[in-house]
Amino acid sequence: MPPSPRTPARLVVLVSGSGTNLQALIDASTSPDYGAEVVAVGADRDGTGGVARAERHGIPTFVLPVPDFADRASWDAALAEAVAAYDPDIVVLAGFMKLTGPAFLARFGGRTLNTHPALSPAFPGMHGPRDALAYGVKVTGATLFVVDEGVDTGPIVAQVAVPVLDGDDEAALHERIKSSERAMLVDWVGTLAREDFHLDDRAVRLGGESHDH
Ligand code: GAR
Repeated sequence: MPPSPRTPARLVVLVSGSGTNLQALIDASTSPDYGAEVVAVGADRDGTGGVARAERHGIPTFVLPVPDFADRASWDAALAEAVAAYDPDIVVLAGFMKLTGPAFLARFGGRTLNTHPALSPAFPGMHGPRDALAYGVKVTGATLFVVDEGVDTGPIVAQVAVPVLDGDDEAALHERIKSSERAMLVDWVGTLAREDFHLDDRAVRLGGESHDH
C-alpha cells in the first residue's frame, strides 16, 4: 500500500446479483470530488445485472464461477489473482454471495468491505431481511463492515436503521433496506477512499496506520 491514499482510489467491486449498490458507487464516482473510481467488477456467476451495469459503463469485468474450479481453495486463489490484476485500494463486496477465503484475505484483508442487509450481529448470512421478518423485529437495517474470516462478523464501519412496517414481505423490506444501504455505502466508501483507514482491534479508524510505535 502507498503511504497516502491514491486519488481517485481504485475500487474493485464484486457482485452476485442486480448490482444496485454497484450502480450507486458508479454514479457517485462520476463526481471528481468523490475520490474513488470503480476500475473493475467481478462476479461469481454468469448473467448478473451487476456485470451488465459495469459493461454499460465501459468498466472491465471478470466472472469466476466456483464450479469452474477443482475446489474452493483454487477458486479463492483465482479470485485473489483476478482482483489483484486491477491493483485496488479497496475491494467492495456489493451483494457478493460467496465467502472470500484465506488466499483472498491474505492479500486484501483489512481493505475489503462488505455490505449486509441487517444490523449486525443480528441475522448474518444469506437471508438478512427474511430472518429479521421471521423474528419479528421492529427495526432492522444495513451494516457496512471490513471483511474477516467469519460470516458477516468483521469490524463495523457504519450501520443504518430501517423500520419494519406492518404488511412488509421480504421483498418490500429488502427494498426499503437497500435504499438506505446504498446511501450509506456511497457515503462511507467515499470517506474511506479520501481519508484512508485502518483497524484498531474492532474499531475502524480514519487515516492511515500510524508507524510510530
Ligand atoms: C444487498 O442488500 C446486499 O446487502 C445483500 O445483497 C443485496 C444486493 O443488492 N448482500 C447480502 O445479503 C450478503 N450477505 P444489489 O445487487 O442490488 O446491490
